[in-house]
Amino acid sequence: METSIIQLQQEIDLFVISNAQELEAFKLEFTVRKGRIAGLFAQLKNVDPADRPRIGQLLNTLKQSADGKVVEAEERLAEATPASQPTIDISMPGRRTYCGSEHPVQKVLGDMKRIFTAMGFGIATGPELELDEYNFDLLNFPPNHPARDMQDTFFVTRGQSEGDILLRTHTSPVQVRVMLDQEPPIRVICPGKVYRNEAISARSYCVFHQLEGLYIDKNVSFADLKATIYSFARQMFGSDVKLRFRPSFFPFTEPSAEVDVTCYLCGGKGCRVCKKSGWLEIMGCGMVHPNVMRNCGIDPEKWTGYAFGMGVDRTTLLRYKIDDIRLLFENDVRMLSQFSA
Ligand code: DAH
Repeated sequence: METSIIQLQQEIDLFVISNAQELEAFKLEFTVRKGRIAGLFAQLKNVDPADRPRIGQLLNTLKQSADGKVVEAEERLAEATPASQPTIDISMPGRRTYCGSEHPVQKVLGDMKRIFTAMGFGIATGPELELDEYNFDLLNFPPNHPARDMQDTFFVTRGQSEGDILLRTHTSPVQVRVMLDQEPPIRVICPGKVYRNEAISARSYCVFHQLEGLYIDKNVSFADLKATIYSFARQMFGSDVKLRFRPSFFPFTEPSAEVDVTCYLCGGKGCRVCKKSGWLEIMGCGMVHPNVMRNCGIDPEKWTGYAFGMGVDRTTLLRYKIDDIRLLFENDVRMLSQFSA
């Protein structure tokens, strides 16, 4: 018995544990319930009772040394593969990278810009913080025009020496800036945000988008305006769309009109969106008023031109069947992610 213990002790001492498999093999051989050390303990009952305490003591020492070797090896191996080192599970699905999407308003604006640039229009932009002079005065608004009312316009500073500063209420002041800056012929569109102090609801918001158009050349007529708007509308809303020009009034155009297209949701039959009329209003337009030309240093005897201004947000709502304009401005990713390519 004693020699068996000494032999086993030697085997245990010589056993090299350098990885998890070897550790497992060591345990199976020596320390498990049916291992070789347990086997020796089982033989203790056959030992002479007088020798039993001493042999029992030797066996305990053997067991302790084997257990100690297991603990030592476990610690050593755990250190070699720290828990912080990521273990890669190659069967896991990969993580998706988040990809942004073009805002629906920008998609619609993009289509509008493509149609007009293909017709030869350039793109001009202007500031959203604008001088009262450009937003109203030079566009032939009389001094007491109701649009200047605090109810409609966000004034930023009043009574400054350079004039009142406001958030532009339309994109028409960009026309003024272009005319002051360039010699005719002029052919531009001006897309951008505009601001109005209106009651906020599902249908109207304090900020929205417009796209302005301006064409000034020799002998430009209302027929040119109609043809351009027709061509635009067919490309934007479908080749069978019909148009209706209704006489209207704007201080900066004469004559002026508002343009309706046949409702592209019901095809003109009449529905909830077009309020049973079969028509949707898409823009205001007209021939540039001679006063506006003069205000901007262009001779109205020599040049004529047309202008138009259309909303972008309503078309966006209708195209994507969004029922609340506020959704276009809240930048809620749950809404925006539905428009990824
Ligand atoms: N500025 C007008 C608005 O905000 C829209 C408009 C109408 C622009 C007629 C024009 C135009 O250029 O000719 O309601």
